[in-house]
Amino acid sequence: MTKFDPRALRDAFGSFMTGVTVVTACTPDGMAIGFTANSFTSVSLDPPMLLVCPGKFLSTFEAFSCCQHFAVNILAEDQQDISNTFARRGEDRFASVAHTRNHRGVPLIEGALASFSCIRRQCLPAGDHAILLGEVEEFQHGDGRGLGYFRGHYFSLGLERSALDPGAKVVTCGVILEIGGRVLLEKTDKGFRPPQVNLKDHSLLRQSLIDGMARHGISVKLGPAYSVFDHGGNRTHCAYFLATGSMNAAPENLHGIGLQELAGLDYASPAIAQMMTRYMHEQRTGDFSLYLGSTDRGDVHKFALGD
Ligand SMILES: Cc1cc2nc3c(=O)[nH]c(=O)nc-3n(C[C@H](O)[C@H](O)[C@H](O)COP(=O)(O)O)c2cc1C
Repeated sequence: MTKFDPRALRDAFGSFMTGVTVVTACTPDGMAIGFTANSFTSVSLDPPMLLVCPGKFLSTFEAFSCCQHFAVNILAEDQQDISNTFARRGEDRFASVAHTRNHRGVPLIEGALASFSCIRRQCLPAGDHAILLGEVEEFQHGDGRGLGYFRGHYFSLGLERSALDPGAKVVTCGVILEIGGRVLLEKTDKGFRPPQVNLKDHSLLRQSLIDGMARHGISVKLGPAYSVFDHGGNRTHCAYFLATGSMNAAPENLHGIGLQELAGLDYASPAIAQMMTRYMHEQRTGDFSLYLGSTDRGDVHKFALGD
């Protein structure tokens, strides 16, 4: 019996920021199984080893503790839905998730940042979990950012969520989107600005922005956060994301502006003018950065536009 309050202990463990993985295997009769896990740890380079901790509460615990082969798939930033699918009880998890099988028949999640196919070396009992130790037989990995997990919530390495003040009343979110080599800007009474929406609830910020843009006839796939700043003292926060996408209709207040024309435009605010001028330069050099701060003070974090 633990002498600690289990909730408090769980919260304390949850202070350790992790990535998110889906651990997969295949039962002797060929059925694909998998569960979401953040207990992944790389263990050894030579021989290449890793571990993950399946809980005894898993419906597939027996299968995982006996399996001869398994795989660990490190989820990418945009795979939160997959994490939820593999953490929810009672559904055919693989029906809705694109995957392939490795030469052992173990499922590998498509789009994962990395996948490690392992031979099981040991499975040690460890309280209400087990420690499943595997030797990496094959692996693959790509560029991009991973999905993060901290204190029971997902976060993206774009830093955008942590930069947002949860007490903010309104979050203005917009996209910097080029279609056919021209940047899409909205013309307002105050001047040009990227297409944007105001959100009262920013707990599902990225999805709300995608939905908001769809209502304006623009279908977008969001990339990394590009500029996150608070606006004066009025508790408005602004977050602009790089995006790719297409327009389903052509709203009349939207204009496609050539890159070289971005510097001379009349913008809705000095902060937007600075952001768009920075974008113009960074688009030329391919050297992108995320601005975090306020309208008058902040700093930039370089990132590679890999995906
Ligand atoms: C972010 C996250 C991390 C998790 N990490 C683990 C873990 O390391 N080990 C584990 O056994 N369960 C972990 N879980 C819970 C399992 O994914 C979940 O209980 C499981 O999918 C339920 O599967 P079942 O319906 O087959 O029992 C985690 C869940 C989430 C959302």
